[in-house]
Amino acid sequence: MGFFSNNIGIDLGTSNTLVYVNKKGIVINEPSVVAINLNNNEVRAIGKEAKDMLGKTPQSIKAVRPLQDGVIADFNITKVLVKYFISKALDYKKFVKPNVVICVPVGVTSIEKKAVLEVAQTAGAKNVKIVEEPMAAAIGAGLDVSAAVGNMVVDIGGGTTEIAVISLGGIVVSDSLRIAGDSLDIEISNYIKWKYKLDIGIGTSEKIKHELGNACQEFYELPENKDVPRTMLITGRDMVLGLPRTIEVTNEEVREAILETINNIVSGVKRCLERTPPELSSDIFSNGIFLTGGGALIKGLDIFMERETALKIKVANNPLECVAVGAGKVCEEM
Ligand SMILES: Nc1ncnc2c1ncn2[C@@H]1O[C@H](COP(=O)(O)OP(=O)(O)OP(=O)(O)O)[C@@H](O)[C@H]1O
Ligand SMILES: [Mg+2]
Repeated sequence: MGFFSNNIGIDLGTSNTLVYVNKKGIVINEPSVVAINLNNNEVRAIGKEAKDMLGKTPQSIKAVRPLQDGVIADFNITKVLVKYFISKALDYKKFVKPNVVICVPVGVTSIEKKAVLEVAQTAGAKNVKIVEEPMAAAIGAGLDVSAAVGNMVVDIGGGTTEIAVISLGGIVVSDSLRIAGDSLDIEISNYIKWKYKLDIGIGTSEKIKHELGNACQEFYELPENKDVPRTMLITGRDMVLGLPRTIEVTNEEVREAILETINNIVSGVKRCLERTPPELSSDIFSNGIFLTGGGALIKGLDIFMERETALKIKVANNPLECVAVGAGKVCEEM
């Protein structure tokens, strides 16, 4: 039993890292950020504490996100991150080497895959199994991936949007776009700069996206959403005067800021649909498209995509956790 309870699934994401421990579920869910003290090269903080430091550090501290666009950008810092989260997840059992299931985006190069494998091994894994993210997302969303039925999953994360049609346990058609949640943050910050001559940090952009990020007005017109906030106050630095200034942003402004990127994501989905074999197309027509990843929480994205694709769009329960749950289910079968 001790052996089995040491199987873990890891979603090593650009924004968040989640660790699923066999029979326990998700035990770690923290931002993929590490803060380093540059004076002595020691790790100052990892996870949420390090994320809170982003954009606020003195020169002696650097808060970094070691993953970019879904892949490892800084190998050594990723190693530190994974090692820390694995040992935290396993707590008292850390002397037993775990079997690890870890996810990578579809279409990564063999070098990128090898880096993930090595990170897991040097972090203490005994056996490592690599699973493609949309496959894990589909399993985590509760889809029967082994059936002879086509299912389409769109996982909108921080760094990448993964699109895949899955049937009989394999990925039939897929694409990985390097536009996702991070791109939306940048669009919002650029928009505020352009319209209000106000410089805001990327953390503030992300807060705006969580609160007001939306793809269509219809969302706000639904009776159940009548109390959803439509405006928020934000403070940044006036680009002319250099002084702090507060403005009010509205949901319409945020939509205008992010719509082009949302459209690019939807175009990516359509391109995948065009490449999907007809038998599977008809399955997708009956079953709809499943949205996972944090980007699935953009308000009204399902309504917008339904209009654009004429297909049913279903947002998974707990979209931020699907990949980790899927990796966890694979590890439970190991
Ligand atoms: N309520 C929300 N509304 C809009 N976006 C959200 C919301 N909650 C989280 N996000 C965004 O979702 C993204 C993180 O999603 P997720 O954790 O699925 O990404 P990831 O797995 O770390 O990244 P990737 O899969 O690209 O490597 C971030 O950009 C975050 O701002
Ligand atoms: Mg992800």
